[in-house]
Amino acid sequence: MPKEDFTSCGISLIGRSIRVLPEVSSTNELLKAEAEECLASEGTVIIAEHQTAGRGRLDRVWESPPGKSLLFSLLLYPEIPGDKMQLIGLMASLAVLNGLEVAQLKHLNHQIIHLKWPNDILGTKRKLCGILSEAGVDKNGRRFTVVGIGINVNQTLNDFPEPLRNTATSLYIMTGKKHPRTTLLKSILASMEDHYNRLLNEGVEWIPQTWLERAGIRGKKVEVKDSNNTISGTCLGLNPDGALQLMMPDDSIQTIYSGDVS
Ligand code: BTN
Repeated sequence: MPKEDFTSCGISLIGRSIRVLPEVSSTNELLKAEAEECLASEGTVIIAEHQTAGRGRLDRVWESPPGKSLLFSLLLYPEIPGDKMQLIGLMASLAVLNGLEVAQLKHLNHQIIHLKWPNDILGTKRKLCGILSEAGVDKNGRRFTVVGIGINVNQTLNDFPEPLRNTATSLYIMTGKKHPRTTLLKSILASMEDHYNRLLNEGVEWIPQTWLERAGIRGKKVEVKDSNNTISGTCLGLNPDGALQLMMPDDSIQTIYSGDVS
């Protein structure tokens, strides 16, 4: 595979500054620290070839061997109410899904890539991409969001830690082909810019609706696990703030703000 130059993948806002680091603890940690000190502008992207302390949702670790996946974080300053911040993660997952589809048109059957609430993308029902969206406040009191994205690109099954081998996948495993990460990144940043422009122009109301249509889980039975419980119900839809609404067997309605859905 030719040497990959990520720095030319930016669009006009998203990725107007792109930094590539051989190794960092976590791109989210670094970009959050820079944003807090007002040292990075909106649209900044930090990419790492390797993370020594990559983080996932629900305090999990995100592990990936060097050079085989796309690991990056993006800084946004969306002017939306604090209780709607979860929508940024949903928007990001729509943007990544769209970017993957555009870039992989020749190799991927669209039917095998799915959204999983809140921010995951599955390929052949296994985890292909995870998104960790974290809000913060900079030293001038402006609220920001760092969107951290990890996409499994060229890993073989043996590259994943043993406990993940039954639940993870990569584009390489799905297609039998190695994928240039620059093509993917460019397509994803372009799609992110389109989605973010829509948010800036129209607000956030379209996000839960569009996500639901694309995920196709309305009316389906789902199970949600958190650290203490597992509950099962029928998906009614999403709240305006992105929370999952379930109809329970006793006809009560439960609103789920976090957890693992299957
Ligand atoms: C999840 O599925 O739990 C979210 C995983 C998010 C991983 C990405 S990799 C780049 C960025 N930096 C991090 O430390 N985490 C995110």
